Amino acid sequence: MHAAVISAADAPPVYRDHPYPAPRHGDEMVVEVLAAGLHHLTRAKANGSHYSSSGGYPLVPGVDGVVRDQEGNLRYVALDDTPLGTFADRTLIDPHRSVILPDGIDPVKIAAAMNPAMSSWVALRRRVDFHAGQRVLVLGATGNAGRMAVQIAKLFGAGQVIAVGRDTTRLKALSALGADETITFDQIGHAADVDVVIDYVWGEPAADAMMAMLTARSDRTAPLAWIQIGSLAGQTAPVPSVALRSARLQIVGSGIGSVPARDFLAELPELASAVAAGAIDVRARTVPLAQVAQAWTAETDDRIVVVPQPSPSRRKP
Ligand SMILES: NC(=O)c1ccc[n+]([C@@H]2O[C@H](COP(=O)([O-])OP(=O)(O)OC[C@H]3O[C@@H](n4cnc5c(N)ncnc54)[C@H](OP(=O)(O)O)[C@@H]3O)[C@@H](O)[C@H]2O)c1
Repeated sequence: MHAAVISAADAPPVYRDHPYPAPRHGDEMVVEVLAAGLHHLTRAKANGSHYSSSGGYPLVPGVDGVVRDQEGNLRYVALDDTPLGTFADRTLIDPHRSVILPDGIDPVKIAAAMNPAMSSWVALRRRVDFHAGQRVLVLGATGNAGRMAVQIAKLFGAGQVIAVGRDTTRLKALSALGADETITFDQIGHAADVDVVIDYVWGEPAADAMMAMLTARSDRTAPLAWIQIGSLAGQTAPVPSVALRSARLQIVGSGIGSVPARDFLAELPELASAVAAGAIDVRARTVPLAQVAQAWTAETDDRIVVVPQPSPSRRKP
């Protein structure tokens, strides 16, 4: 079979022959990979910069994807840390870390959507006491996860969704996806009275936004839940101590570790159904696995989804 193989932290993936996988214990099964997303997490785990990566090489990247098991079921799987990821014709999965998908589902759409969509879905369901009618602000709303956060907050019944970003053209497009207001970072003081912030940005822009919002809040004793999810603008944010004293601010994170794997898995079926039903708009671009090296560094607004080619023996006549 073929796989993308990374030999060192700074090396690009190379498409090449790879030994057929063999289960290491009774819980593992060999599956055919149909589609695998190239997410920030995929790259960060592969280059060892993600807090959950073990850092051994060589490795086959790919943290999740849609696979077909030997009974013919389609499954979405989120892999644990492993040297054999989903950027391969076949991989090994623990079925307990997967959900069976309905027949007829589009594997590319699911592979593109689940990682970015899960970020806000799980955060709102599992990290804060969110309820319908609350006002949500999405910081860094123009990326894949941000666009989905706008839609998911609406789906969960948010009373108002405010999308914040840098690019005014991309921001405008979010109105069609349900954003009630779209603003740039410098306008954030006008959107201070929200209940929840979903933050993909962190770094200085988030710290500045936080202070501008807290200062402008009409009632500083009203609870504000700030959910830290991504760090597009920086790994650290200079949050002044006064931010935590002068307002009823609670900062929490959402990701692998702060949410147990069982809670992520419990949310997968409903999210997959929402994606399949078209409730969440998904931008995906397929790339053959053989072209993984070019795709790895490509800059695109769409989520790249790597698609292994059927080997000649499996191709339909
Ligand atoms: N914790 C979790 O569960 C979880 C799950 C999925 C993703 N994430 C994280 O969430 C983040 C977003 O992921 P994604 O899939 O949406 O990425 P993406 O599709 O690549 O989107 C990136 C967006 O970030 C914006 N951006 C980049 N640098 C910025 C900066 N310095 N200041 C403000 N905005 C900036 C860009 O928007 P403009 O160019 O339009 O401004 C770009 O569209 C990543 O950090 C990812 O690792 C976390």
